[in-house]
Amino acid sequence: MCGIVGYIGNREAYPIILKGLQRLEYRGYDSAGVALYDGKSIQLCKTKGKVGDLKKKCETSIDTTGSLGIGHTRWATHGVPNDVNSHPHFSNSGDLVIIHNGIIENYESIKKELLNRGYHFKSDTDTEVLVNLIEEIKINEDVKLGKAVQIALNQTVGAYAIAVFDKKKPNEIVVARLGSPLAIGVGEDEFFIASDASPFIEYTTNAIYLEDGEMAVVRRGKDVKIFNIKNDKWVNPYIQTLQLNLEQIEKGGYDHFMLKEIYEQPQAIRDTFRGRLREMEGLIKMAGVDDNIYRFLNARRIVIVACGTSWHAGLVAEYIFEDYLRIPVEVEYASEFRYRNPVIFKDDIVIAISQSGETADTMAAMKLAKEQGAFVFGVCNVVGSSISRLADAGAYTHAGPEIGVASTKAFTTQITVLTLIALKLAKEKGKISTSEFHRLLQELQQVPTKVEKMLESNKHVKQVAEVYKFATNCLYLGRGYNFPVALEGALKLKEISYIHAEGYPAAEMKHGPIALIDEQMPVIVIATRKGHYEKVVSNIQEIKSRKGKIIGIVTEGDETVKKLADHVIEVPETTDSLSPLLTTIPLQLLSYHIAVMLGKNVDQPRNLAKSVTVE
Ligand code: AGP
Ligand code: GLU
Repeated sequence: MCGIVGYIGNREAYPIILKGLQRLEYRGYDSAGVALYDGKSIQLCKTKGKVGDLKKKCETSIDTTGSLGIGHTRWATHGVPNDVNSHPHFSNSGDLVIIHNGIIENYESIKKELLNRGYHFKSDTDTEVLVNLIEEIKINEDVKLGKAVQIALNQTVGAYAIAVFDKKKPNEIVVARLGSPLAIGVGEDEFFIASDASPFIEYTTNAIYLEDGEMAVVRRGKDVKIFNIKNDKWVNPYIQTLQLNLEQIEKGGYDHFMLKEIYEQPQAIRDTFRGRLREMEGLIKMAGVDDNIYRFLNARRIVIVACGTSWHAGLVAEYIFEDYLRIPVEVEYASEFRYRNPVIFKDDIVIAISQSGETADTMAAMKLAKEQGAFVFGVCNVVGSSISRLADAGAYTHAGPEIGVASTKAFTTQITVLTLIALKLAKEKGKISTSEFHRLLQELQQVPTKVEKMLESNKHVKQVAEVYKFATNCLYLGRGYNFPVALEGALKLKEISYIHAEGYPAAEMKHGPIALIDEQMPVIVIATRKGHYEKVVSNIQEIKSRKGKIIGIVTEGDETVKKLADHVIEVPETTDSLSPLLTTIPLQLLSYHIAVMLGKNVDQPRNLAKSVTVE
């Protein structure tokens, strides 16, 4: 998600906060805002757009004096990007003001309760619900802000990094984190709050990183008291002296945004099924599907339109939907679909997949489908993007901003959303049993942990990259669910290392590409145990007999392929339909390391843009 910044001390807060928000610009966002305490009242200014827009608005609309303040850059999850939904948010009384990174999953039930108690809401955000829950507890239980925050957070489900202050007690800021980062800069009689150290590193290198489930009361001219939110136990603050420079902080200590985003995938997948995958209740909740369930259940066909990596996610979805839903699925390059005069039925469901939500070809394909009367569903990563607004309904991948041009966490979170939709509909249609549904939900819930395990093989993948970094051609092979992963792996290598690579269905090799095989040709073969394994092993033998170099992506413990391949990279076992979420990870890492070894600009490869908004 995005960025939070706060300051309490003996300097003017506004310039520190504004510059801090600019420092967090690399995290991508759709709106920004500040709240400043000028000694009498809270001055609040917020706007859709960039920090530059905020600066202009502040300097003509509020008194920017005061030594206490908080600021926010928003990556919307609930409520489109606009001025009203931007942070900070006031409580109803106007005494409390909050900023928040993350998602409060159970905000609807809390909001309902607060509405019954007479609370009103200006925005559509989950955050405004949280600040009013804190206020309700503070008033009702007559407790201090810190205690009210703690009680409130113990009633919420979700992820947060928050900062909140009370204008009636302007000598403290209360902060807390669970699932979103939060650092406290410790200066001389001053404290800084931020998502990472970049907003305060120029003022102090002393930092406290809150751990998940911790909160702190930061008091002007005094100290930082840290507590465990659940059990109220006091936590001894550990102040570390940072050695990082600004650029290293922006990338979270990783050398490139792409690597950071590869490593963010476990959290991104968790955030994407957060609030939707309710395994205990045995259901999947997705408003965009629930509100249109009859369309989905009566659809004769699903047509998926997308480009690039999103198109590969669509191919994975084709296998999943047809496997579980038993209705035909067509996956179309949006750029082809829009011009080839396709046949579109009124009861078609057209699913448009797009990380940026701004891809021109995908938008054009959607418009064509809508003109023909089809129902268009969007799967985007940017709330309020053009495609999300053009769609009749949709579901967001809560991957957070993806800065690297090469799409990584967008791909795995797109597959996650599409898998949730497929399982939900298959259960509703009675195509899978309740026990199978539960089994698949449990398997899906285990995927982030398995991705984390997969990431532990990074060093091994780097060693393999070292061997093949000078290859001029590569072949990627996969079958079934892993055929689209072979395409995606080849695209990753092409777009960041500029090495030509092709993805193919493994069985297709004998229809031509096998002529390419020689001792110079690395062939990456996805050979997981459940994906037509024996057939893929025979393809490997065909390659070996022609002296091809084989890198096998195998299920951990596989001894067969290990004997045949030059290198193997093991992935944890999982259900076949979920294997793309794991097998794609080593391919992302392989392309990343080769590109770095070749000295390429990994985050901004030549000729490419993060969002192709032109034809
Ligand atoms: C993939 O790594 C590329 N960045 C590119 O193929 C991308 O997936 C494609 O341009 C589609 O972008 P979108 O998902 O934002 O629509
Ligand atoms: N869920 C909150 C919102 O949509 C916070 C989003 C963020 O992390 O920026 O406003």
